Amino acid sequence: MPAEYGTIISTLEGPTTRRFSFVVNPTANVRRGQFVQLETADGKLIGRIADIMKTNRYFMRPESVKEYESSGKPMDEIFPVNDWEYLVANVIALGVFGKSGFVDSSFPPSPGSRVLEPELEILSGFFGLDRNGLQIGSLAQHDVSVSLNLTRLLQKHVAILAISGAGKSFLTSVIIEELLSRKPEEGIAVIVVDTHGEYTSFADDAKYSAKTRIFPSNEIQIGLSNVSSHTLAEFSPDVSAAQRRELAKVMMALKRKNKHFGMTELIEAVEESDGIKAATKDVLISTLEELRNTGLFGALDYPPLDDLARQGCLSVLDISDMIDTKRKQMAVAYMARKLFNARRSGVIPPFLLIVEEAHQFVPEQAKREIALSRGIITTIAREGRKFNASLCLISQRPIQLSTTALSQCNTHIILKITNPYDLDHIGKSSEGLTRDVIRQISSLPVGSGIIVGEAVNSPLFVRFRRRSSRPSQKGMSIEQAAKEYHDRVRQKTKDAKSFM
Ligand SMILES: Nc1ncnc2c1ncn2[C@@H]1O[C@H](COP(=O)(O)OP(=O)(O)O)[C@@H](O)[C@H]1O
Ligand SMILES: [Mg+2]
Repeated sequence: MPAEYGTIISTLEGPTTRRFSFVVNPTANVRRGQFVQLETADGKLIGRIADIMKTNRYFMRPESVKEYESSGKPMDEIFPVNDWEYLVANVIALGVFGKSGFVDSSFPPSPGSRVLEPELEILSGFFGLDRNGLQIGSLAQHDVSVSLNLTRLLQKHVAILAISGAGKSFLTSVIIEELLSRKPEEGIAVIVVDTHGEYTSFADDAKYSAKTRIFPSNEIQIGLSNVSSHTLAEFSPDVSAAQRRELAKVMMALKRKNKHFGMTELIEAVEESDGIKAATKDVLISTLEELRNTGLFGALDYPPLDDLARQGCLSVLDISDMIDTKRKQMAVAYMARKLFNARRSGVIPPFLLIVEEAHQFVPEQAKREIALSRGIITTIAREGRKFNASLCLISQRPIQLSTTALSQCNTHIILKITNPYDLDHIGKSSEGLTRDVIRQISSLPVGSGIIVGEAVNSPLFVRFRRRSSRPSQKGMSIEQAAKEYHDRVRQKTKDAKSFM
């Protein structure tokens, strides 16, 4: 039997179809944010406790309170005041579960109706959870496991937004664990743009190491023979259309001659080409030299496509050692375009591309020449759905993230955010976020958050589960890092002593 929370009362404001209040049973453990259920003529109504109020008739009249308190005898010694203290909970009606599933409630509940603890199945159905989905935590207020349907979560992209330290990367690791644990035929390829080297620890974890490949930044390479002159020119926006045409001709001739060529061969070919004016040649050569200096270009792609996108497996592009933003953007732009094109032609499995620090790669404001990866990521955001090419954009500065990309992320997972501008921005870009919910975002504890959008029927507060895989050393807190350093030094001294 579900616990009885209380009884609906008649107030000046209700019950209405949208709100009602109930007086809380003395034994019931009721908190703000919790869900309630009650039987109505249309079916089972689900509501959320928006607020709880205490009242006591003895303390309603200021003059009598003052009178008694100043007489030297406190009220609670004269009257049974504690017996007259009531808790009244105000509830927002969220929907009614009837014969045809969940619908808006269209008729008010009656005063006197019993308010009950919700049935977990009903609650799970209300939020649209899926038992076979990705299990990422539990409801903040009830013991209901939160499993999100894979398609609903990923098909139309997801954004994870919060200040740093709130638990974004931790949650992303939990999502990756879930994706790697699916049946082989249900697996998708997961590719992470790892700006801080936080995901490399999957390779050290016994359960996931066989499915994980790490590609360190110094090994990542763009195979020039696979690149179009168009892409190259995109990486150097100063190149004019005429210069680009000349470059295209040279590259075409090289491609015809030998299959693979690097930047040195390309520069030589431009130098030796007869048909190009000297001024054009100079610009092209200096542009190409600049690109060569990034160290990103070689004869062959690395990782090759088959290593980058493997069904049910994780590929980590560890670009934590890359400092230059432009270089990072080039690498990400190239890999993202390659993945998207390959997925369009169906040669790789459906994939999820996770982009940490997404505001660096898909910025809102930056000029085109310093936003080299914005074009392709926005394209995936807009068109990826048709090809099952999904994005997960992670950012601690949502306001700097492209609005176009963010609005194409149909599920937002929001952990603690304190900056009022970011909160305002999120309020505008996430549908279904009421002001009362937005207010709670700034005080969310680490590892908790709210999910809104496509993946759930109604905004959902979640306590995210702990990761089962080995956590990364890179995400350590100062306290942990200090302790780890201390222990390491002490061990060294001990070893040295025992050696002498
Ligand atoms: N769900 C969680 N359960 C327990 N601890 C968590 C959880 N999420 C985050 N943490 C803790 O918070 C720290 C910071 O999380 P992290 O994901 O690195 O934050 P962010 O990526 O948002 O900067 C983690 O190292 C971990 O100790
Ligand atoms: Mg992080």
